[in-house]
Amino acid sequence: MTLLTADTRNSASSATRELPASAVGVGPSSRFPALPRPTLEWTPEIQAATAHLYERMARVIPPVEWPFFAPYVKAINDLKHVRNATILAHNYMTPEIYHCVADHIGDSLQLAKLAAKSDSDIIVQGGVHFMAETSKLLNPDKVVLMPDLKAGCSLAESITGADVRALRRQYPGVPIVAYVNTSADVKAEVDICCTSSNAVKVVESLGADRVIMVPDRYLAQNVAAQTKVKIIAWHGACEVHERFTAEEIENYRAENPGVKVLAHPECPREVIEVSDFAGSTAAMIDYVRIKKPARVLLVTECSMADNVAAETPGTEFVRPCNFCPHMKRITLPKILDSLLYVREEVTVDPAVAERARRSVQRMIDLG
Ligand code: 13P
Ligand code: SF4
Repeated sequence: MTLLTADTRNSASSATRELPASAVGVGPSSRFPALPRPTLEWTPEIQAATAHLYERMARVIPPVEWPFFAPYVKAINDLKHVRNATILAHNYMTPEIYHCVADHIGDSLQLAKLAAKSDSDIIVQGGVHFMAETSKLLNPDKVVLMPDLKAGCSLAESITGADVRALRRQYPGVPIVAYVNTSADVKAEVDICCTSSNAVKVVESLGADRVIMVPDRYLAQNVAAQTKVKIIAWHGACEVHERFTAEEIENYRAENPGVKVLAHPECPREVIEVSDFAGSTAAMIDYVRIKKPARVLLVTECSMADNVAAETPGTEFVRPCNFCPHMKRITLPKILDSLLYVREEVTVDPAVAERARRSVQRMIDLG
């Protein structure tokens, strides 16, 4: 596998790059009526109305925290009906979002596809900015809201559309695959998108000897290990998954005999090599639901273990805790404000959106 070095990069490292112009919110939409702010007090009525939800959460949310969450849960669920809104929650959302207010849960691609099927006017994205953009691409007529526009992603921010154009000049004729963790600007410049679960299939579908994969160097390495296609990789990385090491996993194994280790393909190759299974967040959840291991270690963002633990009481979770700071920007108070004030809207330039949608759709069409 070829890893692009500093010399082959176009613009400078974008770890500090601003979110794309499309990240700028347009403020409350005049299409939706102003509504009064709910009182958000912990009352016997709120307690009764949310008791069935807390029952499911008791394994992961301490009782002392519920009086803070419950008034928001009730208010958000009421507002969703008034606004005809759908809340999408990525598998890394905290349990009170994931289990108590979300209409659809899943990995990044599942969410966008599910949203396309909804007949709501508004989509609230419980996730990060590239996910909201993907939802907008697949739902151009819906209002897509981000509770916090600063919820970015180290992978999406590591590459721009201009970087991809420079790669095309450097490697004429070599097809380019973009992980869905990219901005719409990047998706618009590539041949096709992929997710962590379909990356090998997407690469091999192109029928080329060499394929460029952006932006995750670890996903690229993990794909390269499973295909004869020569992979040329960009140098991006997920700031959460790149921190895991094989040594750490081996230590967990030594301390927790019989533990099944499931890792996300954004982890370094050495981590995948010492794991029992590698797959997207949805694939890891399916593994736990179907195989019901007695003990499991999810080598991924921390909230996922809480979310799966809430519904799989027979499994013990060994918990390394690497938080995604971007995902953790999304909270119940921000979701409430998003619905109440209809903010912040995520838009994509229609010309960019048309080309970006083509890359996403080409992947979806592969099945
Ligand atoms: P999934 O598509 O597997 O949910 O991954 C998205 C992500 O951001 C993982 O860090
Ligand atoms: Fe991006 Fe990593 Fe956070 Fe996923 S976990 S959103 S890849 S920074």
